[in-house]
Amino acid sequence: MSVFAAKNSPHAGHNVVVIGTQWGDEGKGKVVDWLTDHVAGVVRFQGGHNAGHTLIIGGEKTILRLIPSGIMRPHVICYIGNGVVLCPSALFKEIAELEAMDVDVQSRLRISNAATLIFPHHIALDQARERKRGKEKIGTTGRGIGPAYEDKIARRALRVQDLYRPDYFASVLRETLEYHNFVLTHYLDSTAIDFQKTLDDMLALGARLQPMVGDVSSELEAVYSAGKNLLFEGAQGTLLDVDHGTYPFVTSSNCVAGNACAGAGVGPSRLHYILGITKAYCTRVGAGPFPSELYDQDNPLKQDPIGVYLAKTGKEFGSVTGRPRRTGWLDVAALKRAIQINGISGLCMTKLDVLDGLETIKLCVGYRLDGEQIAILPSGADVVGRCEPIYETFPGWRCSTVGICRWELLPELAQRYLERIAQLVGVEIAMISTGPDRDETILRRHPYQL
Ligand code: IMP
Repeated sequence: MSVFAAKNSPHAGHNVVVIGTQWGDEGKGKVVDWLTDHVAGVVRFQGGHNAGHTLIIGGEKTILRLIPSGIMRPHVICYIGNGVVLCPSALFKEIAELEAMDVDVQSRLRISNAATLIFPHHIALDQARERKRGKEKIGTTGRGIGPAYEDKIARRALRVQDLYRPDYFASVLRETLEYHNFVLTHYLDSTAIDFQKTLDDMLALGARLQPMVGDVSSELEAVYSAGKNLLFEGAQGTLLDVDHGTYPFVTSSNCVAGNACAGAGVGPSRLHYILGITKAYCTRVGAGPFPSELYDQDNPLKQDPIGVYLAKTGKEFGSVTGRPRRTGWLDVAALKRAIQINGISGLCMTKLDVLDGLETIKLCVGYRLDGEQIAILPSGADVVGRCEPIYETFPGWRCSTVGICRWELLPELAQRYLERIAQLVGVEIAMISTGPDRDETILRRHPYQL
């Protein structure tokens, strides 16, 4: 039986979801950009400008935070779904950066009228809370993501469509700001945010936003019904998912494939292939458990020499915050959890070349937990924190894989490493990225040409 959902009509489009299987930063931006040759639209459905999607095209680097990674292809329409939390000032900053590079953004960007707005007080709350937590902090990106989602769930958020109801907007803003300013000043030792300035700034940004705002759900349905393909671009990664990640060290949205539906306003039968992106090793920014982390045994806050090597060779610094990323071996037990939760159809392995120089390579294949062996990542930070990794060791291939475009040209030891991963998780490796540029890609099964 096919693992892919049947299309409702032979003339309808074929839709792919691209999901990070780790703690984000798996290299999704490049893969999304690579796949956009085959699509009419790219859709963001969760998160906000906490994401950092790096694209390198013809040697030129572009970092996208909120705008979908399809924006570099002139034929692609980019959509920001209702599940995204949107900071208008950050969006216009990103638009200006792209326009300075002659990328036409505003005629190709569509924004859901139901997306939740991020306000300056959300950012102030996020940063003040982290300061107050001190050593116990989550290590958020400080972009106001969590507080904006809290307001959404508490049913006091303002959404994009509310920007065009100024009286309602002003009255809700006054009430919520009073509440948040009380918390900021009385509890978080911070300063209050000014109501009138916030209102004026937001309404002015709303006017600039208006030509891009619409009913994204209906627009996506029209694209699909016209037989055109869509790509749903996940941000962050499965292990940062608010339900399934290492809670509470997670982001505030569902990052998993299922949320492509709720966060964009499409039905589950509209998703046909789930591509899971996994780096050939693991990284994590911010706090929280990381079983296969390579840290110094004498000082857990420091990386061990191989961890340092991976960080340097892989240029592992946060693309939004510039923070150094923690590094570790690829964790197959965590990958199994990601495959299960997302219903992954095929994997794309990225940054294989970062392992090129290593004499031996380890793969975490399970954990020892409270005297037992387990083969899949458990739930919750406390339990994950007690997991001790069990490794399989592989000889390194010790030669360059950079830019290789065909499977047969990969060193045999690299092929063996990849085949073992596919065998352990029971999902095929459909694509391998061997460098940051578009051309540096091995294709074994095309998600749009099944
Ligand atoms: P927040 O999303 O800013 O609330 O941060 C919560 C956690 O998610 C922190 O550990 C962040 O470092 C992490 N995080 C958020 N966005 C990304 C991302 O795009 N890549 C990697 N980690 C992220």
